[in-house]
Amino acid sequence: NPPAPGELSTVCWLIAVIPVSLQAGRSCTVIGGSGFLGQHMVEQLLAKGYRVNVFDIQQSFEREQVTFYLGDLCDKEALLPALQGVSVVFHCASPAPSSDNRELFYKVNFLGTKTVIAACREARVQKLVLTSSASVVFEGTDIKNGSEDLPYAQKPIDYYTETKILQEKEVLSANDPDNDFLTTAIRPHGIFGPRDPQLVPILIQAAQSGKMKFIIGDGKNLVDFTYVENVVHGHILAAEKLHKDSPLCGKAFHITNDEPIPFWTFMSRILTGLDYDPPKYHIPYWLAYYLALLLALLLALLRPLVTIKATFTPMRVALAGTFHYYSCERAKRAMGYRPVVSLDEAIARTVQSYPSLRRARA
Ligand SMILES: *[C@@H]1O[C@H](CO)[C@@H](O)[C@H](O)[C@H]1NC(C)=O
Repeated sequence: NPPAPGELSTVCWLIAVIPVSLQAGRSCTVIGGSGFLGQHMVEQLLAKGYRVNVFDIQQSFEREQVTFYLGDLCDKEALLPALQGVSVVFHCASPAPSSDNRELFYKVNFLGTKTVIAACREARVQKLVLTSSASVVFEGTDIKNGSEDLPYAQKPIDYYTETKILQEKEVLSANDPDNDFLTTAIRPHGIFGPRDPQLVPILIQAAQSGKMKFIIGDGKNLVDFTYVENVVHGHILAAEKLHKDSPLCGKAFHITNDEPIPFWTFMSRILTGLDYDPPKYHIPYWLAYYLALLLALLLALLRPLVTIKATFTPMRVALAGTFHYYSCERAKRAMGYRPVVSLDEAIARTVQSYPSLRRARA
């Protein structure tokens, strides 16, 4: 018997409705989607079938499937349209740590995040996943296999990190299961990968101007460098595993490559990968630290006359010369996280992605 018209329309209705309801849980907004991490986030989200909106101050790429909303994240009215009908918000917008602009850090990282939270609640977004930083617990002294139980740094290494602490506290304390709003934070460390405008280009620039000759300390201090795709994977897993009563609610998670590497070995592998010489002279850690301190003091004394920005700062010396690597055990247990790209593969892909930075052969 042919199906009755009533049955047919039920079938049509089901076909029309099912994909929509499946998609409803898979629509998201990436705040800061034009940035380095944000772009990689958008790519993986699209590959996983998410519907993606991007909110950013600028549009850095063109993708047919992505809707861009441009605006200032401190402006709730500008944010709201980007969050309508969306169930997950990834917040990875931040000024570059090296931009050294206190006012901007405070405004974007802290005030902007408060606005994001308010806008999420108003738009009835269910989940907010923040990109935090493992350095919120780093005070310039050794951390080996640090867990998330370490307290926030009393003396953060810089003002950027100070505002990342404020931001993370704000997001985690906004977790509110009773009102169907869940939050979690991902703390990556040393993100690198193709199209990063910071680490590799700055390293190569330093090598070109002859500044990459010295190893601070004995060169054996282990540090986490985390491939961008692993960081993205951690964010998406977090969004998918974040439910009422899940251990993710209101908590922060380290996401690393789970392969800590000596700081100077990593730098040397990038340098030699692009045909530059690795640094070879050692200077003692304390000497480098005091030289940087002295330089900072000198620049502070000169400040009324000239403003010089030092790249050789005590903070950078601490970053280059101390152990700081973190355990991602908690992310493994709570969300089944495993790095998807090994460090070897990650370094190879990164080096290959910068053909223009390769040293010209004489
Ligand atoms: C690192 O810390 C985790 C707990 O956070 C622990 O389970 C693991 O065994 C530690 N690994 C090493 C190599 O000490």
